Amino acid sequence: MTDLRLARREVRVRAPGKVNLSLRVGPRDIDGYHRLGTVFQAVSVYEEVTARPAEAIRLTVSGPAADHVPLGEDNLALRAARLLAAHTGTDEGVHLRVTKAVPVAGGMAGGSADAAAALLACDAFWGTGLPREELAELAGSLGADVPFLLSGQTAVGTGRGDVLTPALSRGEYHWAFGIRADGLSTPRVFEEFDRATPDPPVPDLGSEVPLLQALRAGDPGAVGALLHNDLHDAAVELCPDLVETLAVAEDAGALGVVISGSGPTVAALGRSRQHALALAAAMTAAGVVDSVLTASGPVHGARVLAGSDGL
Ligand code: C5P
Repeated sequence: MTDLRLARREVRVRAPGKVNLSLRVGPRDIDGYHRLGTVFQAVSVYEEVTARPAEAIRLTVSGPAADHVPLGEDNLALRAARLLAAHTGTDEGVHLRVTKAVPVAGGMAGGSADAAAALLACDAFWGTGLPREELAELAGSLGADVPFLLSGQTAVGTGRGDVLTPALSRGEYHWAFGIRADGLSTPRVFEEFDRATPDPPVPDLGSEVPLLQALRAGDPGAVGALLHNDLHDAAVELCPDLVETLAVAEDAGALGVVISGSGPTVAALGRSRQHALALAAAMTAAGVVDSVLTASGPVHGARVLAGSDGL
């Protein structure tokens, strides 16, 4: 009787990537994580995770960069499913199909988006119905960026980046992203930061006030001028070609240019959707990136898609 129902059950969830409009890095704490002060914006590049019936918890990944995704036990979507199963005591299986669009190891939190989407997909698929706050807590134990990708929009992150305060943002921001096929390892970039910055101050949220005001006012020019990343030097040390990519986007008239998270994706803010396309074209024409994407933000966090069967 359940077989027919199971055979057609499917839950689809989409979760966005992110760009850090500002990323300030403080000292490493005893948990091994750095204290951060950051302003996140979720952008319209989406990972899609589909949950379907299976005997056990299993995973397949597709999309242009799927070959670069680890499929073992450290895969974040698998870890999310196992964590939710353990937390709720379910012994059901699930087949998670991840379709990747966010660059892998690019500083846009693609793996964390998979985790956020997988949590929500399994919760709907298994009918475990956890409140959002409980899902956010589980998200935080999977990775520092995962809680933000559940909630999306614009938020200030403190702690490891996982303690979130929503921020007001007016208008739409249009981005061009310059992507490199060879990603950067986030732990490696933080290690390089530690080597070059032995005693960083604890991030002061007061530093974000002008950016938060610019976002509230809906002033892309001011936002562009205030983009900031403390991991800039560390990412450039590990990938010196980034200097040229940043310069090309700047010369093409970007309102602001920043390395996204731990890199190596370069985020260039355009004046309009058209201008973002022109920035992407300039990076492509200069041959300084392997591929480009355009997207806008802020957008919502992980969401079950209409038409799926899990609500
Ligand atoms: O939380 P997540 O697994 O995404 O972080 C990946 C790595 O990035 C951590 O293992 C750590 O090396 C580094 N990191 C950090 N401080 C943070 C966030 C991440 O040192 N606040």
